[in-house]
Formats: sequence, C-alpha cells, structure tokens
Amino acid sequence: MKQIRLGLIGAGERGANCYAPYALKYPAEVKFVCVAEPCRERRECFAAAHKINEQDCYKDWKGLLDQGYELDGVIIATQDREHYEPAMAAIEAGYHVLLEKPMAETVEKTQEIVRAAQEKGVLLMVCHVLRYTPFFIAMKDVIDSGAIGEVQSIHHIENIGYWHFAHSYVRGNWRNTGETTPMIVAKCSHDTDIMNYLLGGKKCRRISSFGSLSYFRPENAPEGATETCVDCPHNKTCMYSAYKYLEDRPMRQNFRDIVLRTDDNQEFLEHLLRTPYARCVYHCDNDAVDHQVVNMEYEGGVTASWQASAFTMDIKRQTKIMGTKGEIEGCIEEDSFDIKDFASGNVRTVRVHTPKTLHSGGDECIMQTFTEALRHPEIEHENLDAALSLQGHVMAFAAEESRRSGGKVIEL
Ligand SMILES: NC(=O)c1ccc[n+]([C@@H]2O[C@H](COP(=O)([O-])OP(=O)(O)OC[C@H]3O[C@@H](n4cnc5c(N)ncnc54)[C@H](O)[C@@H]3O)[C@@H](O)[C@H]2O)c1
Repeated sequence: MKQIRLGLIGAGERGANCYAPYALKYPAEVKFVCVAEPCRERRECFAAAHKINEQDCYKDWKGLLDQGYELDGVIIATQDREHYEPAMAAIEAGYHVLLEKPMAETVEKTQEIVRAAQEKGVLLMVCHVLRYTPFFIAMKDVIDSGAIGEVQSIHHIENIGYWHFAHSYVRGNWRNTGETTPMIVAKCSHDTDIMNYLLGGKKCRRISSFGSLSYFRPENAPEGATETCVDCPHNKTCMYSAYKYLEDRPMRQNFRDIVLRTDDNQEFLEHLLRTPYARCVYHCDNDAVDHQVVNMEYEGGVTASWQASAFTMDIKRQTKIMGTKGEIEGCIEEDSFDIKDFASGNVRTVRVHTPKTLHSGGDECIMQTFTEALRHPEIEHENLDAALSLQGHVMAFAAEESRRSGGKVIEL
C-alpha cells in the first residue's frame, strides 16, 4: 500500500489531536512529513510524536508552502479566520486539501475557495466529519432504500451542553463573532451539511432563523460575582466555576485537556487560573448566541427545522426523519436509531459500530476517506465534493443573516 505523505498546517486541538493520531495508528498508510505551527510547544510536541526533522518544521504556513514539498495532500486546521489564505495558497500550489470547517468567515471567501479548487482540479474536502460516520451513513442507506417512503420533513436538535457552551462560546475561541465566525456557522454548518447529505443533495430554497444571547450576560451574574473565578464568593456553588474543570465528570475531561494536558491537578489549576477559561461566564467579551432555531424549505416542499441550545445537560445530536411510509429517529452519540414502519407498526433498531474517537468516529473516518481518495485518484468518490459542503455553509450564513434581521425569510 502506498504510504500517503501529508503536511499539517496548524498543529492545534483539531490538527494534532483529532486528525493526526490516524498516522500514528496506521503508520504504514500515512506519514506527516512537515508541519507549520507558530506555537513552539505545540510544534515540537507534534514533531516529536511524528518523528519530523527540525528542518521540516515551520512557524508559519507560508514557510511550509514555499518549500514546494512533494506531498500527497495538506491538512489545514488553523482557526476559522485563518483558513482562507493558506487554503488559497495550497490550492494554487496544486495540493489536495483537507480543510477544517467553516471554510472561511464569509460566503464570498468560501465560494472563492471552492471555485479555486475546481479550476485547479485538486481535491478539496471539508471537515464535515459527521457525514463520514457509520451512524449517518447507515441512516442514509435506510432513506435511500425507500424504507420510509419519500422524506417530507426533518427535525434535528443540537444539544451543545451547558459546560461545552461555556467553554467554547462564552470563554473560549468562538465567543466573539468579531474574532471568529457566528455560532451557527462555526458549530452548525455540520448540521446543515448533514441534512443536505441525508436529503441526497436536495437544494434548500428558503430559510429563516431566530435566536439570541439571552443568558451569559452581566445582568445574570449572581450578586457579588467577580471578573474571574479565582476569588469569587460563588466559586464553590456556581455551576460554571472554573474550579469545576477539576471534577471527574466525563463532560469535563475533553475541555480540561484543551486547557492543558496534564494529570497533575496543581499544575493544571495554576495554569487554568491564568487563562480566559477562569473568567466569570457573566463577565466575558462574548456575543455568540446561546440558543437559535432555524426553519428551512427544500425543493419539492420538504421542510426541516433545526435547533441549537446551550441549555442542555448532555452533548448530543438528535435526528428525526419523517417519511411518507415511516420515520427514523436516533441520536448519533447513542450509536443507534429506530425505524418505525407505519403500515405494520413494526419498529426496527439499527445499531452501528463506531470507532471510539471524537465525533462518533467521524475524525478517524474522514482521515481514512481522505487518504484513500489520495491513494486512488482514479476512483470517483461520492460525497467528498466541497460543493455539497458549500451549500451547508451558504445556509448557515443565511440563517445568521435572517436572525440578525429579526427573522426575515432569506431566499437562496
Ligand atoms: N470539524 C469539526 O468537527 C471541528 C470541531 C471543532 C473545531 N473545528 C474547527 O477547527 C479549526 C481549528 O480548531 P482548534 O480547536 O484546533 O483550534 P486551535 O487554536 O487549537 O488550533 C489552531 C492552530 O493553528 C495555529 N496557527 C495559527 N496561525 C498559524 C499559521 N500562520 N500557520 C500555521 N499554524 C497556525 C495555532 O497556533 C493553533 O495551534 C477551527 O476552524 C474550528 O472551528 C472543527
């Protein structure tokens, strides 16, 4: 089997910890030969794990792309507003690209990236990892088999989880839309993408949305709450207290690792209390909405509604597909869905086996799909096309436009 040679741009949480482990698990299949990452600690840690020579490590993507490496592909996993430039440059240099979502911070830039890849004839895959999961592939197979007749409507809920929301959208990287992309684009282009995927690429015609930042605001702070949790009088009782990063609950672990990977609680705490993750959730510079609902009408009159909320205990996506002969209902995190047949009344449960990696196996599955596509460029791969991802992006941007305008219906 040909070993695929990759370059990584951005050795952060996604690049280094979600995609690159595939190369360590299957070293005969994939090797990272160069990396660009400005943070020295991250760069060195990545280089050590993947045995990359010092001269193949760069502080910036420009340095890496200037070298003209012979690579099968490049992964770009920088932050939202740092995708456009390296993506355009990598495409121009003729590399096949796996690009983190959202592709860019505006619709125009997103369209430009897709157009550039088409013109250059390179593969551009977007990290809409959900459509590569065994769960959604199995669900689509059932829809395509006709078992529930013609799909008429979809209801999809993204339960963001109160702790996840506070970590990422109040204190963390996606809190302020001036610095990143709106919550609906950053978090939920996954959801528009998965609905488009399940509907076999049907086009969304109209969209409207409502939502606001109603809770994580100064007026909701408990009396006497201070700017950080360090010496706040509520730091034992507040459910968002930074000290709760130390609690041994499954929901906390991933986010604790994002702050600092160490098992030493003292070292972790000293670091945490100096980071934005120790800020009071009611006193941050956040403007990301904490709940939002979106209504969509597709061609052929298919309707879809979709909801995202910070105010949920668990982190999970629930999906219900309503067809003329039956319905499908399931939750990706539970690895199973039910098919209910109207005529017989029978209920069949489909259980899927999922790799136990993040995003219900999606991160590993997308690496497998990307490297297979690079290994066999002669095979036409369905569902890899960035044009389908583009549609999901356009819908997410339109939903945000509608929300900002007070719920105006946007024609697509
Ligand atoms: N596909 C998904 O399911 C999913 C999930 C979460 C996040 N994301 C997206 O993934 C992207 C990365 O998120 P993250 O959590 O890994 O962020 P991160 O901040 O941990 O990683 C980004 C890395 O890019 C590096 N970087 C910055 N400038 C650079 C440059 N000029 N050259 C090379 N590297 C540079 C940063 O130093 C950082 O280490 C974001 O766009 C985010 O929205 C996708």
